Amino acid sequence: MNILFATSEAVPLAKTGGLADVAGALPKALNKRGVDVRVVLPKYEDIAEQYLAYFETIAEFQVSFGWRNQYCGLQRGTIDGVTYYLIDNELYFKRRGLYGYGDDAERFVFFSFAVMEAVRYMDFHPNIVHCNDWQTGLIPFLLRTRYAFDPAWAYTKSVFTIHNLKYQGIFGIDLLKELTGAGDDLFVAESLEFYGAASCMKGGLVYADKLTTVSESYAQEIQTPYYGENLDSLLRYRAGDLVGIVNGIDEDLYDPMNDMALHTPYRNSISRKRKNKVDLQAELGLPQSSSIPLIGIVSRLVEQKGFDLIAATIDEVLEEDVQLVVLGAGETHYEQLFADVARRHPEKAVVWHGYSERMARRVYAGSDIFAMPSKFEPCGLSQLLALRYRSVPIVRETGGLKDTVQAYNEYTGEGNGFSFSNYNAHDYLYTVKRALACYNDEETWKKIVENGSRGDYSWDVSAKAYLNMYAQLLAHRKENERWPVIS
Ligand code: ADP
Ligand code: GLC
Repeated sequence: MNILFATSEAVPLAKTGGLADVAGALPKALNKRGVDVRVVLPKYEDIAEQYLAYFETIAEFQVSFGWRNQYCGLQRGTIDGVTYYLIDNELYFKRRGLYGYGDDAERFVFFSFAVMEAVRYMDFHPNIVHCNDWQTGLIPFLLRTRYAFDPAWAYTKSVFTIHNLKYQGIFGIDLLKELTGAGDDLFVAESLEFYGAASCMKGGLVYADKLTTVSESYAQEIQTPYYGENLDSLLRYRAGDLVGIVNGIDEDLYDPMNDMALHTPYRNSISRKRKNKVDLQAELGLPQSSSIPLIGIVSRLVEQKGFDLIAATIDEVLEEDVQLVVLGAGETHYEQLFADVARRHPEKAVVWHGYSERMARRVYAGSDIFAMPSKFEPCGLSQLLALRYRSVPIVRETGGLKDTVQAYNEYTGEGNGFSFSNYNAHDYLYTVKRALACYNDEETWKKIVENGSRGDYSWDVSAKAYLNMYAQLLAHRKENERWPVIS
């Protein structure tokens, strides 16, 4: 089974969030099960030299889209058993960072067309092209329209995974018409049109053969108006083709027993874990104490992650005997909020502004409690990483948080974290206080940490679910379809 996994980011090459973790770990897990999954992504300037050394250029060609005609280099490399293809065009991708440019529409329309052309040079015929989020949403659309009868894509099916329905790649109709060269008939409500604009995500949602998202709860939630981002009716219409498969984490890559960023390796020993807390406190200039509970946050600083609840309660939380470490970057008002909190409570709160893989690992290891009270959360990997590093998550019961964190129940002794249901600051505050009370009871805390350590957060189960979904999709091939012969 040949799968081409198209993504705008993948560990270890380029990462802004959880999509990169998934695109790094899932192909690896599938390859172990005998599938040939290859990953294609843009060649960003941010990709480290050490990885570029694995790549060689295998083709150079022109990509024409709309009236444009652009150079494309195709590079191939194998890292850790996975073959990656990089789409090289310096005009679009030789820039700092991955997204947020005024010409993102053009950059990712180019990327989508470049992937469509690149298969001619790969010596690899995908049975399925697996696309992820809006940046690759136009690939299923192109497969069914402009490339519908192209032998390079004969009999290829498409899967579109929603990692976050909020980011849709919405642009003016005129712009997308010009970029794709598609006619008026494709900018209607049944196709790419979305409330008077054009949506790249709809390219995936309307045209992909199968839709998936990254937890069962989120798959249900997005069919409702509250979570549906104005796409809930389309998602209800396609409910029969939509499945939720929860993400896992790469347990080799994130292993507190074997992590260069940590002071003391550990697995289940709370006292060894706490040596990492003291080391983190020392580095960040907090009073050093292994017993004081430390709450960690590692996150994009955006509304999604529940920062309004955190903002509303932060002074009350910091009245407790507690420390807070925040690692993140994002919206200015949240950056300012935490800078202000750290200024007002220098003995208790530190904010590390920016993106740092090393610091993220140190916060997962150094924290006792991990706060993630998201407004919505398709899956969330941070709470899984926290559990892997024996930091107890506090979450709101939504999406993947609901599916992976079970609230501690003092009567049965079950549960790996703390949770609350309504998006409400008082409920969050009450839950934090309850977690702190449990922390102060050594036996209870040991039990909760132990419960977390028993969970399986690997890709084992979910890789099988993807495999079954792929197999089901290919089983639906029509009788008269034949596999093309690649010479
Ligand atoms: P999302 O993809 O919505 O941002 P996830 O929880 O799925 O949320 O994944 C976030 C990933 O990004 C995790 O691997 C987390 O450790 C990482 N991350 C988030 N913010 C930072 C940061 N400031 N520095 C380093 N890693 C970060
Ligand atoms: C998105 C979601 C996050 C999910 C990640 C990987 O960024 O916000 O919940 O874990 O994608 O699927």
